[in-house]
Amino acid sequence: MGKPLFSSSRMILSLFLLFTTLLPQIQYVKALPLSTNSRWIVDQNGKRVKLACVNWVAHLEVMVAEGLSKQPVDVISRRIASMGFNCVRLTWPIYLVTNDTLGSLTVRQSFQSLGLVESIAGIQANNPSIVDLPLIKAFQAVVSSLGNNKVMVILDNHVSRPTWCCNNYDGDGFFGDRYFDPDQWITGLTRMVTMFNGVTNVVGMSLRNELRGRKQNVNDWYKYMQKGAEAVHSANPNVLVILSGLNYDTDLSFLRNRSVSLTFTGKLVFEVHWYSFTDGEAWQNENASQVCGRVANNLMRSSGFLLGQGYPLILSEFGADQRGTNVNNNRYLGCLLAVAAELDLDWAYWTVVGSYYLREGVIGRNEYYGLLNENWSDLRNSSFLQQISALQSPFRGPGISETSAHKVIFHPSSGLCILRKSMRGPLSLGPCNKSEGWNYTPQKTLLQKGTYFCLQANKLGMPAKLGSFCSRSDSKWETISDSKMHLSSTTPDWRGVCLDVDSRNTIVTNTCKCLFEDNKCDPESQWFKLVDSVRSPTTTKPSFQIDSILDLSANELFRKILNLDSFVG
Ligand SMILES: *[C@@H]1O[C@H](CO)[C@@H](O)[C@H](O)[C@H]1NC(C)=O
Ligand SMILES: *[C@@H]1O[C@H](CO)[C@@H](O)[C@H](O)[C@H]1NC(C)=O
Ligand SMILES: *[C@@H]1O[C@H](CO)[C@@H](O)[C@H](O)[C@H]1NC(C)=O
Ligand SMILES: *[C@@H]1O[C@H](CO)[C@@H](O)[C@H](O)[C@H]1NC(C)=O
Ligand SMILES: *[C@@H]1O[C@H](CO)[C@@H](O)[C@H](O)[C@H]1NC(C)=O
Ligand SMILES: *[C@@H]1O[C@H](CO)[C@@H](O)[C@H](O)[C@H]1NC(C)=O
Repeated sequence: MGKPLFSSSRMILSLFLLFTTLLPQIQYVKALPLSTNSRWIVDQNGKRVKLACVNWVAHLEVMVAEGLSKQPVDVISRRIASMGFNCVRLTWPIYLVTNDTLGSLTVRQSFQSLGLVESIAGIQANNPSIVDLPLIKAFQAVVSSLGNNKVMVILDNHVSRPTWCCNNYDGDGFFGDRYFDPDQWITGLTRMVTMFNGVTNVVGMSLRNELRGRKQNVNDWYKYMQKGAEAVHSANPNVLVILSGLNYDTDLSFLRNRSVSLTFTGKLVFEVHWYSFTDGEAWQNENASQVCGRVANNLMRSSGFLLGQGYPLILSEFGADQRGTNVNNNRYLGCLLAVAAELDLDWAYWTVVGSYYLREGVIGRNEYYGLLNENWSDLRNSSFLQQISALQSPFRGPGISETSAHKVIFHPSSGLCILRKSMRGPLSLGPCNKSEGWNYTPQKTLLQKGTYFCLQANKLGMPAKLGSFCSRSDSKWETISDSKMHLSSTTPDWRGVCLDVDSRNTIVTNTCKCLFEDNKCDPESQWFKLVDSVRSPTTTKPSFQIDSILDLSANELFRKILNLDSFVG
């Protein structure tokens, strides 16, 4: 069993405070358990806790968390924390706690029964204290290692029968399917959540992953999900009760008309999954801005509306090929990150796993969506971590008001935001937590927060500027295209332009991409999202005063002298 890691003892608290001052962008201090306040997940002090999780797989045939043959469990847990995640969605199969034949095996025996000799040697070498534990004790050891590294855990019941998930015909998709016995499921959930009662870092139970298949229907969804939720809550009232939708957890639309009826409050959370392949090859083959607009609207209709109804919604699976070579993936990811930032969703990336012991019959199968490499020894792609890092801390929510509301201009394909890195330098992309913020006025100007300077378009291909003639048309920014992610303005010589990024990360104004070109055109460098934030920047305020006057062109100076500005705007 895990140690009570979030003890209220003063010494431990001050240690945590020390940690938070060292690593301010990661939320370490939490008064657990968690509960809900309208659409937000909050701690005992009512402060928002944003779940920035990664999925860690433990539901395959061997029923052992992946990677233990490659690295010591503490090394993996520490790595997860150091990558900026505060939580793991740990998958598990019902059989682990209901099937005595399987559940009574030790780790070694489980690998032996599947002929995975090499993995045994690996676990023996990397995790000698785990190799001869019963499977359930090994599972507990993983949870407790995560706890020791201040990582919260959502237990995700992924399947009943341990195997790779999912398809429509695997007999494990919906209540009453061959392997999916509802009573056994309730028993399994109850045992699991009881076992972790009192283990503080276990903060949630996801009742069942990706319901699907021929048998799925709304009435049974309510019947069994409500029953499962009650069972989980009465066995362990601390955990968030997380419900997944129909059609591979892409559809919760039925909740619009009929809410879940439970005897308890403050614990109910929903989850949704979103992958590129849900829309086939559309991202690659169609107009990407149109696809983004369409898919984002679908998401709001099928699940996003729940936020407006006052329920938290976790984007508990999304993922992309870490090699960055899949165009379909890349455009999808840009769109998804913009939506996730705008809604400030809680989320879980699929997956941390670098390779599997055994997946779909393949020993040692590589996971190209995995954050870690095949050997679990290093990151696959550090630029990906940069891309998601802005989303690892909350932009807003209860208790987050560090400063007054503003916008940050988020660039999803880099994960960075628009800011001025140096006094004299042009606007460029940099870490979102360094952004001073912008006010987007009703006149559609983007005012640098706390100043009278606004974002101004320059000549075609030139760096955008901060200027003071903010009523002119070159200071007016519309969000155009179906994705609403092109920020469009006009140059001083009246040409339509969009905000863009050049190869040196400088913010420039270029011809708007993909508005009139062919469908294969890639708009990503021009995708920006205005994201509501109350985060305060982590650096001291630079002054733009002197600098901006130096930046004034002769033309602007002339206008300023003649006071013509208001005529032109
Ligand atoms: C700001 O974010 C960057 C990554 O975007 C991170 O490396 C850095 O540590 C953060 N800084 C602070 C002070 O939070
Ligand atoms: C337990 O698991 C084994 C192996 O998958 C299976 O053959 C057996 O039917 C299961 N028993 C129960 C009660 O589910
Ligand atoms: C909700 O109810 C309306 C009217 O009764 C119906 O037209 C609609 O299809 C329902 N929506 C869902 C998602 O069930
Ligand atoms: C990492 O991802 C970026 C962007 O997606 C890509 O350009 C790069 O080639 C990737 N690097 C590796 C080592 O896969
Ligand atoms: C993984 O380890 C094997 C064996 O040590 C080595 O050959 C391979 O290059 C490593 N792969 C990576 C991605 O580090
Ligand atoms: C692509 O979509 C945008 C709107 O998002 C539209 O303005 C443009 O005409 C479309 N381009 C093509 C070639 O369909």
